[in-house]
Amino acid sequence: MPGARAARHSDAVHGAGAARDRTAPQFGVGTTDDGAHGSIVILEGVRVAVTGGAGFIGVHTVEALLDGGADVVVIDDLRHASSRRLPDHIELVEADVAGAEAREAVKRFGAEAVVHLAAQGGVNRSWREPVEDARANVLGTLSMLLAAVDAGCRRFVFASSGGALYGSTDRLPTPETEAAAPLSPYGTAKLVAETYLEMFTRTRGLSACALRYGNVYGPGQDGTGEAGLIAISCRRLLAGSAPLIRGDGLQTRDFVFVGDVVRANLLALDSSATEPVNIGTGVQTPVNAVVAELMATAAVQARPERVPAPAGEVRRCCLDNARARALLGWSPNHALSDGLSRTYRAFAGAASVPAVS
Ligand SMILES: NC(=O)c1ccc[n+]([C@@H]2O[C@H](COP(=O)([O-])OP(=O)(O)OC[C@H]3O[C@@H](n4cnc5c(N)ncnc54)[C@H](O)[C@@H]3O)[C@@H](O)[C@H]2O)c1
Repeated sequence: MPGARAARHSDAVHGAGAARDRTAPQFGVGTTDDGAHGSIVILEGVRVAVTGGAGFIGVHTVEALLDGGADVVVIDDLRHASSRRLPDHIELVEADVAGAEAREAVKRFGAEAVVHLAAQGGVNRSWREPVEDARANVLGTLSMLLAAVDAGCRRFVFASSGGALYGSTDRLPTPETEAAAPLSPYGTAKLVAETYLEMFTRTRGLSACALRYGNVYGPGQDGTGEAGLIAISCRRLLAGSAPLIRGDGLQTRDFVFVGDVVRANLLALDSSATEPVNIGTGVQTPVNAVVAELMATAAVQARPERVPAPAGEVRRCCLDNARARALLGWSPNHALSDGLSRTYRAFAGAASVPAVS
C-alpha cells in the first residue's frame, strides 16, 4: 500500500562516538497500519541486510521489511532454509556468514542496517558439534559485526536466546539483569556473541542490540528436526501420529508467535537501544498444556508418546518483557491460542499461509 509508505528515513548519520538521542528512531520513521498486516514499521528506502533471511524467522522478517518499504538483501547459505519461500524478486547471496563473501556482500549492497539471524539453532546439535556451533554462531556474528562497521551501518540487530541464556534460574519472569548461566554450547555462543555486540557498540560506534527471543513458533517453522515442539507436533498430528513429548512435559516455555518477533526485529532496527532486550510473552506454558491445546485446535484426541528428556534441558522459561515495552514500545499481540490456530491452519494448508501480523 504505497500511501502507507510515505515516511522517508532521515539522513542523519551516527559516526563513531557521535552522541545519540537514545529515544530517537534510527531511521526517522514510524509505524502504520495497512489493514492486511496490522502494525508495520515503515523503513522506506532503508537498505537492510538480513542474514539467515531464508530461515523460519528470516522469511517473515524479509516480508515485513518489504511491506515497510525497505530494500533488502538476504545472506544465507541455505543449509536450513524454510519451506516458506522468499519473495521471488529478493536478492539472495548464498554464502556462509563466517566467510569473506558474506562480508563483501554487506558492503557491496551498501547496507545501512543488518538483521543477523543466521545461526546453528539446535541446542542438542550444539552438544554434538560444539566447534561447528561456535564457528557459525560466534565467528559468524563477529564476521557480520566487522562487515557492518566496514559498510558504515547505523544499526545491527542480533537474534539471541532468552531460553538458552538464563539457564535454570528461579527468577521468573526473568529480567535481562539476571546473570547469564547457559546450559549448552548454543547458549554460551549466544552469550559470547552478545559480548562482541557490546564491545563493538563501546569501541566502534556501532549501534547494536541483542533480542533475546523466547520459543518462537509459527507458519514456516521446520517440523522435521528435533527442535520446534509446535511445528513438530503439527506435522505429527496431520500425519495421524500422536504428538511426542520429551520428559514429563511439565517443563515450561515462553512461546512467542513469529509475527510478534518480526515486529520486535523491525522496532529494534528503528530504535537506538543497545541493551539486550527479552522478546517473550511473560507467560510460561508447560509443554503438556501446549500439546493439549494444539490437539484441541486440531480436534484430535490422542495419548502423547513420551521419550526421555535430553540431558541438561532448561526446566522453566518465562521472560520479563518490561524492557521491550519501555525501550521498543513492543508487546505481544498474539495469545497462544490464536498463534496455535494460525500455525496449525498454515501447516494443514487449510488456509493460504498468510503474512504474519
Ligand atoms: N526459533 C526459535 O525459537 C529461536 C529462539 C531463540 C533464538 N533464535 C535465533 O533466531 C535466529 C533465527 O532462528 P530460526 O528459528 O529462523 O532458525 P532457522 O534455522 O529456521 O534459520 C536460520 C537460517 O540461517 C541460515 N544459516 C545457518 N547457518 C548459516 C551460516 N553459517 N551462514 C549463512 N546462513 C546460515 C540457515 O540456512 C537458515 O536459513 C537464530 O539466530 C536463532 O538462534 C531462534
